[in-house]
Amino acid sequence: MKTQVFKGHIIYTDGPDRFEVHENSYIVVKNGTIEDVCESLPTDYADTPIHDFGNALIIPGFYDMHNHAGQYLQCGTGMTKQLLEWLNDYTYKLEADLADKAYATKVYRAFTRDLLRYGTLGACTFATTSEKGTACLFEAFKEIGIRAFVGKVNMVRNAPDFILEDTDASIESNLALISRYQSDSKVKPILTPRFAPTSSEASLKRLGEIARAHNIPVQSHISENKDEIAWVHSLYPWAENYASVYGKFGLYGHVPTLMAHAVYLTPDEIELSRNENVYLVHCPDSNINVRSGIAPIKQYMTQGLKVTLGSDIAGGHKIQMNEAIVRAIQSSKLLSLSQKDAQISLSEAFYLATAAGGAFFGSVGKLKSGYAFDALVIDDHPLYKDRYSVLDRLEKFIYTGDDRWISARFIEGQLLEL
Ligand code: GUN
Ligand code: FE
Repeated sequence: MKTQVFKGHIIYTDGPDRFEVHENSYIVVKNGTIEDVCESLPTDYADTPIHDFGNALIIPGFYDMHNHAGQYLQCGTGMTKQLLEWLNDYTYKLEADLADKAYATKVYRAFTRDLLRYGTLGACTFATTSEKGTACLFEAFKEIGIRAFVGKVNMVRNAPDFILEDTDASIESNLALISRYQSDSKVKPILTPRFAPTSSEASLKRLGEIARAHNIPVQSHISENKDEIAWVHSLYPWAENYASVYGKFGLYGHVPTLMAHAVYLTPDEIELSRNENVYLVHCPDSNINVRSGIAPIKQYMTQGLKVTLGSDIAGGHKIQMNEAIVRAIQSSKLLSLSQKDAQISLSEAFYLATAAGGAFFGSVGKLKSGYAFDALVIDDHPLYKDRYSVLDRLEKFIYTGDDRWISARFIEGQLLEL
């Protein structure tokens, strides 16, 4: 059995309300899993070499629970459009070009490397409709070594012909990718109807059947924008609400389900979302950029819904999850000007980006016994180390830090190289 010992200032969140802080402490890791976190090292480990990070912080990695690898090149363009216009004018052409294997390999390698660079150790990602292109994204994740759920995007109507597919072809591609990648330990398939407007009842039904038959999780978008919601009502007039379009076909909490945005959930949808398999993904940067709105996530958390955090690049313009944490706090403050108790705290936002998203991958996202040692070492400036408490230093990293502050990245105790 391989034993490792790491030492530093250990910080994580076990729940949203407060940080767990172990200054100058040890983490004992056996075969990649944390065995113990302690202030003095038990004598059993006297002969084990210590990876001593001195005065640096050791924190969990970040989990980006919603983003579009197929839009990576587009980050920071088209940022004055609204959602539906932005998709038509900017996004679909780029996604179509990523059917080319050589191009997709280049773009997806840059994307996965940047995730790791900025401390994202797990991601749930939309590729494009192309099966070949999506396979390149699986391979890029496997090369870089971080955890991922990778989705081939499914869309059969209401978009330009050059990006649409027919339902049979879409289903065959999903099945091919599932059989090729389902048994991988870190990079797994996820069923990805783009959103209700580009899906049909037939395509949703067949994706729901695959989800059940192969026990594959699901990711999609929900209630992001008011025009989009009106469109969903006109396309699915029988449905009581947006969530029940997915629900009718076994795609809303029947298997683990990620739903991005959820800006305008109705009381009935909140009830449907109170399901341990439903993970809402808050995407604050994107919600501001394409002018969707501000999701009332503090309210959702108080109501017992699972909320996680996503960059939603390229609706969001930054791949850095510390930026998403900042934007989650900032947008909650703006909402609190018009809604009572809407503001979230630093520990709540940090929890969303680490433990809450990590739970979708298994026992990751916390630095406690039984969890994988998936962690970042934050080595900030000596002038800050001398002056501030470890929690102030963490906040400073979140608000002002970048990859230059991250001196090591581990998955299951293994150091990952950029
Ligand atoms: N809804 C459907 N597709 C998309 C997308 O690519 N980005 C965002 N933000 N919303 C969507
Ligand atoms: Fe999105």
